[in-house]
Amino acid sequence: MVGIVERSRSARYARSRIISARYDVRDGVAFITLDNPPVNGLGYDTRAAVATGIDRALADAAVRAIVIAGAGRMFSGGADIREFNTPKANAEPTLHTLIRMVEASDKPVIAAIDGGCMGGGLELALACHFRVAAPTATIALPEVKLGLLPGAGGTQRLPRAIGIEPALNMIVSGASVPAAKFKGTALFDELIDGDFPAGALDFARKLVAENRPRKRLRDVVINEPNAEGFLQFARNTVGAVSKGYPAPLKCIDAVAAAVAKPFDDGLRTERELFLLLLQTPESRALRHAFFAERAASRIPGIAVSTPVRPIECVAVIGAGTMGGGIAMTFANAGLPVTIVEMKQEALDKGLATIRRNYEASVKRGRLDAKTLDRNIALLSPTLSYADIANVDLVIEAAFEDMEVKQGIFRELDRVAKPGAILASNTSTLDLNRIAAVTRRPQDVVGTHFFSPANVMKLLEVVRGEKTADDVLVTVMRLAKRIGKTAVVSGVCDGFIGNRMIEQYLRQAMFLLEEGASPAQVDGALERFGMAMGPFRMSDLAGNDVGWFIRKRRYVEKPELVYSRIADRLCELGRFGQKTGLGWYRYEAGRRDALPDPAVDALIADYRKEHGFSPRKIAEDEIVQRCIYALVNEGAQLLDEGIALRASDIDVVYLTGYGFPRYRGGPMFYADSEGLYNVVRAMHRFAANPHGDPRFWTPAPLLAKLAAEGKTFNG
Ligand SMILES: NC(=O)c1ccc[n+]([C@@H]2O[C@H](COP(=O)([O-])OP(=O)(O)OC[C@H]3O[C@@H](n4cnc5c(N)ncnc54)[C@H](O)[C@@H]3O)[C@@H](O)[C@H]2O)c1
Repeated sequence: MVGIVERSRSARYARSRIISARYDVRDGVAFITLDNPPVNGLGYDTRAAVATGIDRALADAAVRAIVIAGAGRMFSGGADIREFNTPKANAEPTLHTLIRMVEASDKPVIAAIDGGCMGGGLELALACHFRVAAPTATIALPEVKLGLLPGAGGTQRLPRAIGIEPALNMIVSGASVPAAKFKGTALFDELIDGDFPAGALDFARKLVAENRPRKRLRDVVINEPNAEGFLQFARNTVGAVSKGYPAPLKCIDAVAAAVAKPFDDGLRTERELFLLLLQTPESRALRHAFFAERAASRIPGIAVSTPVRPIECVAVIGAGTMGGGIAMTFANAGLPVTIVEMKQEALDKGLATIRRNYEASVKRGRLDAKTLDRNIALLSPTLSYADIANVDLVIEAAFEDMEVKQGIFRELDRVAKPGAILASNTSTLDLNRIAAVTRRPQDVVGTHFFSPANVMKLLEVVRGEKTADDVLVTVMRLAKRIGKTAVVSGVCDGFIGNRMIEQYLRQAMFLLEEGASPAQVDGALERFGMAMGPFRMSDLAGNDVGWFIRKRRYVEKPELVYSRIADRLCELGRFGQKTGLGWYRYEAGRRDALPDPAVDALIADYRKEHGFSPRKIAEDEIVQRCIYALVNEGAQLLDEGIALRASDIDVVYLTGYGFPRYRGGPMFYADSEGLYNVVRAMHRFAANPHGDPRFWTPAPLLAKLAAEGKTFNG
């Protein structure tokens, strides 16, 4: 067998190009093994090596059949994302060329699928004359998640292999499905248990010995009598659940073409639809979100190879709302958690809540009883700090009070082993002041979880002045292990997410003063795509939280203009869902926000008292004022170095604040609107006689980029 990296005989050529597929011949069968870690992506070098391998096999009289397989634990993850938006992505041989070569080969080509087989990888396999798979292999066409459809024949060949309904389900959802599910379909000629490469070789030898004719999925005619009815049903149901996302319906159109048209015409339709989707703002936004999430884990100036500290057991201080959720998050990932409280009563209450949450998941079928028992067994409640002397990481989630937190960190400094990471879940306090009470500020970091901590994906990792690089890298890596999307934030009041949301909420309140109703503002932003409008969101989070912060702002920053309308609501004890009354009213046991005439009256009285004559506010103005308030504060965070990159801000909003993914996040959205237009709108808002012109002073970075015709995301 040729080595992992085969080099061309020409030295000059070898220097310029690494061949990332292996070629070897075993017993008259040529094996072309994709070898492009980590997922055998079909990048240019790999495609070229496969093409060379096929030509070599075709030219070799001793070769009777060709097997395409994957090295490592994948067949292929599809397109090589590192080549996206580079000329290499479309350089010949393209995936289309490879597919044509494979299909036209007069020697049989077999795809041998072990591990994952995704996107373009599956499309290549579908073009082969035969396919064998390990039953544990998984296949998927995930293009829809990037706002696209499989554009290399997937929508035409998969329905011919497994039927319209299962194919459409896969294409529209992008979900991974185990190969075993397709036993007995034309997708797999054989499922191979046991030694996979040997089994694939046996299969190839057998078909050569039997002189089996080559099969091409393109020759299969779909003959399903209810196809039209099913496609119409699919259009109705998919249309209803994919608002804002054009790709799922186009996937159905492509599959419909597989039913209605000859193969090559269907391919053309698929191509046209693919190119159309590629240009949509939604697909651009989804691709941005995909890359933004990957970029967030890289920290400029810190090498990826920085060694991480081992984290095998953790402690959580405080068994309240956040402590309980954080403990569950770690237990879910299989890590033992010691939970420290001040009083037995609080400990018992916290553990009872955790158990109740797990039991609710079991009832809903999301967790099995065995896992519940395992997770509960991983939790060790205690009242003694001495019990956490050996943990690798402590997360403090006690009261939001500097003295309380400093007291806890002094204690942690005393008991924790050297090298333990000491984290605080503070949402507003200065992490540097917390770190300063320890003799090891380099080991102190912020881990800002969102509520409910066991559900919400976002984790803001707060980098203190003295936080060590390896501590930061360890926590970022750990986030992945516990299923969180981590974004680095510098120290400031509110970090990235909450500092921005404060400005958004300020605008929402001004809109009420000027004439909008809570339902109108919420409706506008929900139609824009936000999971929840600002008033429903405040009712869910608790209006008292914002009130508490505002009262502090009135003292610390008296120059800032705040509407006092929300204070009125809080003075009446209308804290939101938890009190049954807030910006809306809530019926017992239900979460539906019902408009409340008492709130309308409160707003009307407030306007009258302040001499505001209400006006009708257009939906566009509502959306722009709230979203551009986020954008301007985001730009400010970039200017101050609190956020490392604009795309990190987008990730925060996509994963923590219900910003619509198909709009890519606030900074990407501003880019797509054009920063020049954003700044122009801000000048217009500043001229509003009711508004606070200072609010709309563009952040220096925004002003600069707009003037230069540039974007946040480069
Ligand atoms: N609730 C949220 O939505 C949210 C979101 C993000 C961050 N946070 C932050 O998380 C932290 C905890 O918030 P929460 O909402 O869970 O509060 P909580 O009041 O529900 O829980 C705090 C718990 O800490 C315990 N505690 C206090 N001092 C302690 C000590 N010295 N040792 C051990 N236990 C102690 C209390 O008994 C209580 O059970 C705060 O810093 C808060 O700002 C809260």
